[in-house]
Amino acid sequence: MVRTEAAPQDLGVVIRPVREEELLNVMTINRICLPENYSYSFFYSLFKSNPESFLVAEVDGKITGYVMSRVEWGSSKMDTLRLRKLGHIVSIAVLPEYRGRGIGRALMREVLNALRNVYGCDEVYLEVRVTNTQAINLYHSLGFKVTKVAKSYYVDGEDAYVMAIKF
Ligand SMILES: CC(C)(COP(=O)(O)OP(=O)(O)OC[C@H]1O[C@@H](n2cnc3c(N)ncnc32)[C@H](O)[C@@H]1OP(=O)(O)O)[C@@H](O)C(=O)NCCC(=O)NCCS
Repeated sequence: MVRTEAAPQDLGVVIRPVREEELLNVMTINRICLPENYSYSFFYSLFKSNPESFLVAEVDGKITGYVMSRVEWGSSKMDTLRLRKLGHIVSIAVLPEYRGRGIGRALMREVLNALRNVYGCDEVYLEVRVTNTQAINLYHSLGFKVTKVAKSYYVDGEDAYVMAIKF
């Protein structure tokens, strides 16, 4: 089956880099959507270091989701012992009332573009709770593969899948 995908503008959503004055807003969405929360200085440091791959989704002027990432040098998650420039998706979330309409996919598509074309990453990886079916389905549909199970990765003891994609 050929999958057709709506462009962000057809979804009524604008995907763009976050602005500094929106970081508190992003922090609020993070706290509503995920148990993994961070200090303002952590959000700020990602904003400063990799501004083109810290993105928000705007619908009718309202920030409805975000994805943030950083660039690291490290061993490939896919080819053992190869040193690679890795994009690390640190966090992604869409407000509950805006889910299921393609915003998460649009955020992921754009962040992968930025990590590849702006920052020159060879590979992108992320961690996801083994029970987070929605997110796992999204990453699989974009071509991510599970490369490892990180035991008790989360503070509550749940395992994570490490998932990665090579460009
Ligand atoms: C994961 C998340 C970002 C997806 O955002 P979204 O805007 O709802 O996603 P989309 O509408 O773009 O859907 C993309 C794909 O995700 C998967 N998906 C989304 N909702 C799903 C659901 N309820 N059940 C199963 N799969 C689902 C599907 O593969 C879907 O593709 P399809 O519509 O072609 O079937 C969102 O559910 C979220 O914010 N969850 C809470 C935070 C979170 O878990 N973040 C990930 C941490 S690793």
